[in-house]
Amino acid sequence: MVERRTLLQAAVAAGVLPYLSAFGATGATGSDPILRAIPSSGERLPVIGMGTMHTFDVEGDEPTFVRLAEVLQAFFDNGGALVDSSPMYGKAEQVFGDVLQRTTRKDALFTATKVWADGKQQGIDEMYRSMGRMRVTSIDLMQIHNLRDWRTHIETLREWKEQGKIRYIGVTTSHGRRHDELVEAMQETDFDFVQFTYNIVDREAENRLLPMARDRGAATLINLPFGRATLFDKVRGKQLPEWASEFDCASWAQFFLKFCLGDPAVTCVIPATSKPHHMVDNMGAGFGRLPDADMRQRMIRHLESL
Ligand SMILES: NC(=O)c1ccc[n+]([C@@H]2O[C@H](COP(=O)([O-])OP(=O)(O)OC[C@H]3O[C@@H](n4cnc5c(N)ncnc54)[C@H](OP(=O)(O)O)[C@@H]3O)[C@@H](O)[C@H]2O)c1
Repeated sequence: MVERRTLLQAAVAAGVLPYLSAFGATGATGSDPILRAIPSSGERLPVIGMGTMHTFDVEGDEPTFVRLAEVLQAFFDNGGALVDSSPMYGKAEQVFGDVLQRTTRKDALFTATKVWADGKQQGIDEMYRSMGRMRVTSIDLMQIHNLRDWRTHIETLREWKEQGKIRYIGVTTSHGRRHDELVEAMQETDFDFVQFTYNIVDREAENRLLPMARDRGAATLINLPFGRATLFDKVRGKQLPEWASEFDCASWAQFFLKFCLGDPAVTCVIPATSKPHHMVDNMGAGFGRLPDADMRQRMIRHLESL
C-alpha cells in the first residue's frame, strides 16, 4: 500500500496537489482549506497567505510575468486569499497589479499593503499610489510598515476605515529590537492586525507578541516563516521524519509553515515564492491536521538535532 506521506510528497513534486486536495487527499479534515477568524470582525481567512518582497520586486519582462502569474494562479487555485505587499518593496505592488490581471478565480483576493512614509500627506499620497499600482479601488488591510510615524498615520487610517477605503488597520515589524515598540503601540491602540516574524528558529514572538495579540483580539500575520529561506539550508539533503505524516505534512516547507500554524494565536502565515511548484507546496500546509503543543516541541528538538 502506498503510504499517505509518500503520496503527498509525490503530489508536491509533481505539482498536482490542487487536484488531490479537490479529492480530499491532502488532509484528514477533507478538501477545505483551514480558515481562521479575524477577531475584530469574525471574517475568516485562509491560513496561508502570500508575501511579495523580493519575489515580485522584479523587472517586468514577459517570461517573468508569465511565471509570476502561474505563482498567483496556483495561490488562488489552492484556496489562497491574502496577499501582502508594501511600497517599500520596489516594483512589487506594480508587478502584483499587472500579474493580477492575468489570473482567474481571484474573487477571494484580500489585499494587504502598507504605508511607509513620514508625515500625514505623504502617507495619504503613498496609499493612493499603492491602490493605483495594485489596480484596486480599496485595500482590505492597510498596515503601518515597521511602525514608521505610526501615531500620525493611525488617524488617517481610522478616517479611511470609516469611509470604506480600507477595511482593517494593522501595524508591522520584523526585527526583535522593535518588539518593545510594537508592544507599546498595541497597549495604546487596538489594531485589527499585527504582523511580525515568527518561525521554528526565531521564536521570540512567543514571549510577548503572540500572547498579547491573542489577549487584545488582534489577528496576526507571520512574516519570514522560512527565515528568508535560511531554514531550508538546515534541512538540505535531510529526510522528513516519518512522524510528519501525523500532521499531514509532506515537505520541509509544510513542516515550517505548519509549525507556525500550530499556535492558535497565528491567523495567517505569509511565505513568499517566485516558483509555481513552491506555491503549490506551501499551500498544502493550509490543509489537514496541524501539530499540537507536544508535537511542536518534538519538531523543534528534531531540527536542533540535525
Ligand atoms: N516588516 C514587514 O512588514 C515585513 C518584513 C519582512 C517580510 N515581510 C513580508 O513577509 C513576506 C515573507 O517574508 P520573506 O519573503 O522575506 O521570507 P520567507 O517567506 O521566509 O522566505 C522566502 C524564501 O523562501 C523560498 N521558498 C518559498 N517557498 C519555498 C518552498 N516551498 N521550498 C523551498 N524554498 C521556498 C523562496 O525562494 P523561491 O522564490 O525560490 O521559492 C524565498 O527565497 C515578505 O514577502 C513580505 O510580504 C514583511
